[in-house]
Amino acid sequence: MPIMEWNEKLSVGVASLDNDHKKLVALVNELYDAIQAGKGADKLGPVLDSLISYTVFHFQNEEKFFAQTGYPASAAHKQEHEALTKQAVAIQTKFKSGAAGTLTLEVMNFLRNWLINHIQGSDKKYGPHLNAQGIK
Ligand SMILES: [Fe+2]
Ligand SMILES: [Fe+2]
Repeated sequence: MPIMEWNEKLSVGVASLDNDHKKLVALVNELYDAIQAGKGADKLGPVLDSLISYTVFHFQNEEKFFAQTGYPASAAHKQEHEALTKQAVAIQTKFKSGAAGTLTLEVMNFLRNWLINHIQGSDKKYGPHLNAQGIK
């Protein structure tokens, strides 16, 4: 059972960014499934790394569009990205230092909820602005 699903309610109206979000959802699910299956650190580590590096890549994609189009809410939005990146890297550092059971259900719920709230709350707001600038 996936921990989250992408659906049209999460669409931001920009195809490439929707695709990024779909990939992030898939990576969260992959990590969740690996945890549920009792996979060891050797299996979880690479999935966690992929999730974090793809998250950083995706934030850069959004921020490039913000810079290109002079998105007025860019500063606050970037702050949200920065906060999550810090939290995610802290989880990764803890995991790498061998803290047993770092990747708990609570951590997975946090990642999922953050992603859903950020997409629905902040990402969706840039849709009309980017669309008006010809980015769809
Ligand atoms: Fe964002
Ligand atoms: Fe996003």
